[in-house]
Amino acid sequence: MKEQLELIKQNALAALDAAENTATLDEQRVKWLGKKGELTAVLKMMGKLSAEERPIMGQLANSVRAEIEAKLEERKSALSAAALEAKLAAEAIDVTIPGDAVSMGHQHPMNQVLQQVKDIFVGLGYTVVDGPEVELASYNFTRLNIEEGHPSRDRSDTFYFTDDDAVLLRTQTSSMQIRFMEEHKPPLCMLAPGRVFRKDEADATHSPMFHQIEGLVVDEHITMGDLKGALITIMRAIYGEDAQMRFRPHHFPFTEPSCEMDMQCHKCHGTGEVDGAVCPTCHGEGWIELLGAGMVHPEVLRNCGIDPEKYSGFAFGMGLERMAMGRLKINDLRLIFDNDVRFLNQF
Ligand code: DAH
Repeated sequence: MKEQLELIKQNALAALDAAENTATLDEQRVKWLGKKGELTAVLKMMGKLSAEERPIMGQLANSVRAEIEAKLEERKSALSAAALEAKLAAEAIDVTIPGDAVSMGHQHPMNQVLQQVKDIFVGLGYTVVDGPEVELASYNFTRLNIEEGHPSRDRSDTFYFTDDDAVLLRTQTSSMQIRFMEEHKPPLCMLAPGRVFRKDEADATHSPMFHQIEGLVVDEHITMGDLKGALITIMRAIYGEDAQMRFRPHHFPFTEPSCEMDMQCHKCHGTGEVDGAVCPTCHGEGWIELLGAGMVHPEVLRNCGIDPEKYSGFAFGMGLERMAMGRLKINDLRLIFDNDVRFLNQF
């Protein structure tokens, strides 16, 4: 029996030393120490021993079990340490390998132009403000001297939210004139860029949503000369010192007198022709309408509690997409909203 125990010990230790993973280790544990294992089989024969031999063999069997268990533990920790080493080696990161360059994105071309316009006006002392796109008809129309029944209030042109036509998506940033004059008294200088909405089909120069930049200046002794000076200054800053522009008389209910300002067409340089054909950008006009403007109507000042006998002012509203198209030589307005990166990457 002693020899049997010795043999079990030797074989078990050798097998455990040879085990190369924890699964094999477990198999070996069952094989040698398990209920149906080799050691148990030998112990079952103890009953056959004499009373003197039994404790001696019992002791020997226990020490063999202890040695095998110790070996098991030793191999287990050795194997798991090796496994950890291997894992660390496999997952090692070489921090010296150069990284992938991240391409930096940039502002949308329209925002680039907006930023430029804002910078110029801030330099001239204007305060830039923001206002609601869901607007009351009283701000968008009524207090701007646009009476009930005016064509621009028509349901076929304006998105209304309520049956009484009191709440709408603003059709112009001019609503901000009223909002600003409600809060501020002259002298005042305001610039209000933002989205506006009209029931227009989208084509090369129209979109149901577009951007305007509203400007308003009110003080004593403000004249049409101040308006022209401000607009010429900004246009030269954006389009260059030799930018060509013209003012035409026009009508707006909230300004008197009113005008529109055109820029010379960037495509045909005012000739109205490209390669012997009618210029596709200005339709042969030679000019592109850029903004509406005028002297603030006395009624509008009164509607905001400002005395038109004492104060006068000018206002203008320009189309930001039109400006971006001229500035960046974009021929179709829809490109600005499509967000095709092949287009955007050009700016
Ligand atoms: N709100 C006008 C439009 O959408 C543009 C405009 C014209 C704005 C004259 C003004 C202005 O401030 O004085 O067509």
